[in-house]
Amino acid sequence: MEIIIHDTPQEAAVAGARMVARLVREKPEAVLGLATGGTPLPLYRELVRMHREEDLDFSRVTTFNLDEYLSLGPEHPQSYHHFMREHLFEHINIPKENTHIPDGMTLDVPAFCRDYERRIAEAGGLDLQILGIGSDGHIGFNEPGSSFASRTRIKTLTRETLQDNARFFDGDPTLVPRHCITMGIGTIMDARCVLLLAFGPGKADAVAGMVEGPVTASLPASILQHHSTAKILLDSPAAATLQRADYYRWVRENRPSWQQD
Ligand code: GLP
Repeated sequence: MEIIIHDTPQEAAVAGARMVARLVREKPEAVLGLATGGTPLPLYRELVRMHREEDLDFSRVTTFNLDEYLSLGPEHPQSYHHFMREHLFEHINIPKENTHIPDGMTLDVPAFCRDYERRIAEAGGLDLQILGIGSDGHIGFNEPGSSFASRTRIKTLTRETLQDNARFFDGDPTLVPRHCITMGIGTIMDARCVLLLAFGPGKADAVAGMVEGPVTASLPASILQHHSTAKILLDSPAAATLQRADYYRWVRENRPSWQQD
């Protein structure tokens, strides 16, 4: 794990966007795993800016989103389909057929999930997976207790996640769908590179558990300690309870000049 602490979410997001952009420039047909939620928004804004001002080309990129609420159609304002169009896809030159998001209206969830895994494999696997983290340590919608071997499947959201995400549903947790389709932890771990972003004091405990706690299904993000290429981009408040924060900063300050992000 590489822990990278920035002063602000904006600085961290710009650093993350540069990593994505470098991959897309080196490998124009890159396969990206995308996340939703508030955390990746500044990263997507920076990618849009790079597309407009620096010719960052998404015409051959393929994307797979982590998750979607079950029962929400693609036009629902709180669906992740809507989120991705609004915040990224409508502002870059990615062909619609290259974008994949779980279908919240599927009538056959197991068959859809098997097919989603097949499509990821056929695309050559994920080159880079962007992640946020839930306050309970979930990645995608893999709630505590999720198997580290899990693949794309249905999950039931915890009460804590319903409460966290109620802010997108008029503040009412009863309006948040209780079920979702999410890539599994095994799916995420197969990505060749993982980029997790976490901002704000509300994420500090989950971040500390993920980085310095035991690897446990009770805190799903802790499995990233076993990923060979996981970069964790934090702002200072999200890093506030890390025991070795000074060391992580020291590592960055003393990076050999040949090392790139
Ligand atoms: C959501 C998403 C996750 C996201 C997390 C944190 O429920 N399913 O992919 O990382 O919770 O969300 P936010 O970035 O809004 O804090």
